[in-house]
This record gives sequence, structure tokens and C-alpha cells, in this order.
Amino acid sequence: MTSHDDSGGTYPAGRALVAAEAAGDEMTVEGALRPRTLDELIGQSRVRDQLGLVLEAARSRGRPPDHVLLAGPPGLGKTTLAMIIAAELSAPLRVTSGPAIQHAGDLAAILSSLAEGEVLFLDEIHRMSRPAEEMLYMAMEDFRVDVVVGKGPGATAIPLEIPPFTLVGATTRSGLLPGPLRDRFGFTGHLEYYEVDELDEIVRRSARLLEVQITDTGAREVASRSRGTPRIANRLLRRVRDYAQVRADGVVRQDIAQAALNLYEVDEEGLDRLDRAVLDALCRRFGGGPVGVSTLAVAVGEERETVEEVAEPFLVRRGYLARTPRGRVATPAAWRQLGLAPPTDVAFGQAPSLFDDDCGAGEGNAG
Ligand SMILES: Nc1ncnc2c1ncn2[C@@H]1O[C@H](COP(=O)(O)OP(=O)(O)OP(=O)(O)O)[C@@H](O)[C@H]1O
Ligand SMILES: [Mg+2]
Repeated sequence: MTSHDDSGGTYPAGRALVAAEAAGDEMTVEGALRPRTLDELIGQSRVRDQLGLVLEAARSRGRPPDHVLLAGPPGLGKTTLAMIIAAELSAPLRVTSGPAIQHAGDLAAILSSLAEGEVLFLDEIHRMSRPAEEMLYMAMEDFRVDVVVGKGPGATAIPLEIPPFTLVGATTRSGLLPGPLRDRFGFTGHLEYYEVDELDEIVRRSARLLEVQITDTGAREVASRSRGTPRIANRLLRRVRDYAQVRADGVVRQDIAQAALNLYEVDEEGLDRLDRAVLDALCRRFGGGPVGVSTLAVAVGEERETVEEVAEPFLVRRGYLARTPRGRVATPAAWRQLGLAPPTDVAFGQAPSLFDDDCGAGEGNAG
């Protein structure tokens, strides 16, 4: 059995989904668990209401809506929302990403082949090349691109009309987008981490789709350890299901969920290995900071981007870490999380450090 989605893709449902899941087909399962309409979307009520209005107005005018930018940490639903936008508009969806567009010509080829009203989803838009970005400005504003033919002094720019379309850009780093690009989006949706109640609903919905038996308290346990992130909730659900099948009778009860998540090193607050490694390095090795993010990344053996885009936003949100102009600083809550007493001799955020590598001056106290 399969279910059809309006973006042209087909995802398995029922038995076929359970089979895909058993085969470890991550992409298929992620796709199949995505809500398809704004009504089906759980949480993000602000973005949902705002976007609902933008789409409704566009539908009633019979015109493609303004360009939409979706910003937020990984796994919160940007791709899901892009697909929902196309589905709600009954428009075809074209998917590409910043890293895939290295030359302006790549973008020109995509833009010139769009159908009228098509939704162009540009994932990781902050990673697009500069020349492509400049072409995109013109396309977004005037539905026109200049295609350069030839090289050197003989090169000529041929203007090319493109049909009205809607760009949906997604980024985990809206701060990296140049102002002129940001300004050309008529609507920006900032996705927030989810509340436990919302994740609870997501876990129960996914359990239904994957035919996993889970109790209310079991679902609650998974939800509360999901780091505010639906993708993680779905992943943890599948890991606790494995545990329940191998070590118990297959039903995910609270004690089973707890035991499984402890095994996978996900703590009660949802902090995972990387989160704890970052806090641990910050407090134990750098005295609570301030320390530059590159140094911190080296200390935990990760890429700087991973620390910045994956670990930090959640730690900041939970009040464990502060980003200051001079570097990252542990809050008293971070020390307590590690079972350590916060230092009392230095005020929060004032600890001098020799390790600021990329956040301005490396010495003295903050003013
Ligand atoms: N509001 C939601 N309700 C239910 N499930 C959701 C919701 N948002 C996301 N999900 C689930 O979480 C998974 C990840 O979402 P999605 O791929 O849209 O995240 P993303 O923001 O695009 O992440 P990335 O930045 O890594 O591309 C999806 O498979 C979907 O099932
Ligand atoms: Mg995505």
C-alpha cells in the first residue's frame, strides 16, 4: 500500500512502511512520517498560522505567494513545511540545495525550466555560491535572469523571462544570509524547538504509522528526551521499539523507554553525547569559558559547524550555554548539570580565558 503526496512523491504507508522501516531505509521512513498538510502539522503554531494566512491569501488572489524563508535548527520541519507549502497550493515542487548550485548557470537552468506557480525548494540556501546568489536576487524580484553568453569582451547578457514561481529557502543559519537575500523573502518562518506535549503527540502519531505499541507514559518518556526535535523523537522511538522487541514483549512502556534511552546515552533532559561533551569541555577544560567555538569544537573532536548548528542552539535554549562576543560561556546550570559546583570566585561570564581564538580579544574581563 502506498499513499500519494501532492509534491509528486510516493511514500509507503501501512505494511509497506513497516517493511521499509525494518529494512532500515531512513530516507523512506523520514518521508513517510512527514505530515502532509498544515492541519496535520503538530506544533509550530505561530509559523503555521502565519503561513496559513500567506497561502490562503495567495490562493484567493490566484497568484503564487511571496517567497518564503524557513529558518531553524536541524530536524524541526523545514523540509516538511516546504512540501506542505507545495501541497497546500496544489503546485509542483522542485527540490535543490545551495551546495548543488555552484555556478550561476546551474541556477539559470533550473529557473528557466520552472512551470508557472511551481514551488522551488532551495535547501541550505546559505551555502549557495555568490554568483548564483546574485542571479537569484533578480529572479526573485523581477522573475527574470540575465544569461551570459560567451566569454571576455565579447560576452553578452541575454535577459530571460521566467514564469512567476515561489522560492522556499531553508537554512539552519539565517545569520549567514546576506541582507539583500533575506530582504527578498516576503515571509520568514522561524521554527522553534518543540514542547514536550507536542513531541508526545508526534511520537504517538509515528508509533501508529510504524505500528509500534507504546503506552502513554512510554510516549511521554521518549518525547521528553527528544531534545525538542521531531526528527530525534522519531529516531528514539525506533530505538526504544528495538529494545522493547529484543529485551521485552515489544510494548514500549516507560521503564523500557528509560532503559533503552539510558543505553543510547540520552539523558532525562534529552542531552546526548555531543551536548554533554561540549558542556564537559567548556566547564572542565576551559574553566567555564569564555572560549572560542573553534577551540571548543577541536576539544570535542567535531566540526565547528556541527557544534554551532547542532549542539549549541539547544544548549543555549536550555540555558546551559551563552554566546558572548568573547566566546562561549557556561552558565551555573551547566556546572550543576555535570554535577559540579559553579565557580564562585568569578561572576558568570566574566572568567578570563586564554583560549579565545575567534571571538575577538582574548584577554581581560567583559566590560
Ligand atoms: N511538526 C511536525 N509534526 C510531525 N512531524 C514532524 C514535524 N516536523 C518535523 N517532523 C518530522 O521530523 C522529521 C524531520 O523533519 P524535516 O526533515 O522537515 O526537518 P528539517 O528542518 O528539514 O531538518 P534539516 O535542517 O536537517 O534539513 C520528518 O521526518 C518529520 O517526520
Ligand atoms: Mg531539511
